[in-house]
Amino acid sequence: MHNDIAEVLFTEDEIARRVDEIGAQITRDYAEATDEGIVLVSVLRGAAIFMADLARRIELPVEMDYMAVSSYGDGAKSSGVVRILKDLASEIEGRHVVVAEDILDSGLTLKYLLKNLASRHPASLEVATLLRKKTLAQAKIECKYIGFECPDRFIVGYGLDYAERYRNLPYIGVLKPEMY
Ligand code: PRP
Ligand code: MN
Ligand code: MG
Repeated sequence: MHNDIAEVLFTEDEIARRVDEIGAQITRDYAEATDEGIVLVSVLRGAAIFMADLARRIELPVEMDYMAVSSYGDGAKSSGVVRILKDLASEIEGRHVVVAEDILDSGLTLKYLLKNLASRHPASLEVATLLRKKTLAQAKIECKYIGFECPDRFIVGYGLDYAERYRNLPYIGVLKPEMY
């Protein structure tokens, strides 16, 4: 285990099994859309790893597209400010869209994003989040697919960063408090 990690919350195996299940669920839920498939939208940068793994577990045509929004910057706390840094390359009007996120914390990122995407009139719009933090002050976001509920601690790995570090850890762990 990495020296800066206090505790592993989800191992590489646990994550892989859960991503498998979510992929199978999406494959079943969109069985009617085997021709047109879905557009998987990942929110850079944190969700890139989850999306890459999830896409390979969905047995349908999957278009992969990316948006970059940022609410945290380099700090440990949400600034509450969501910025679009990069928009989608594809038109999503009339398409089935699934947003892949690594974590739902305050919900500000997804709240903004869902409103923005819905205004483009997709045929459907759902969220797959690997983690949902248990916090009281979370915006109400409908997530059809949730990997794990997780405690309100500072976690990193599998895409989640602290000041751009630790995204490449294969597991999800709690960062030692002295690190931030
Ligand atoms: C993190 C995470 C989610 C978002 C969740 O992204 O990847 O996208 O925060 O927090 P929220 O529910 O409070 O909005 P961040 O803004 O740190 O950018 P990153 O993905 O590039 O790390
Ligand atoms: Mn993110
Ligand atoms: Mg971040």
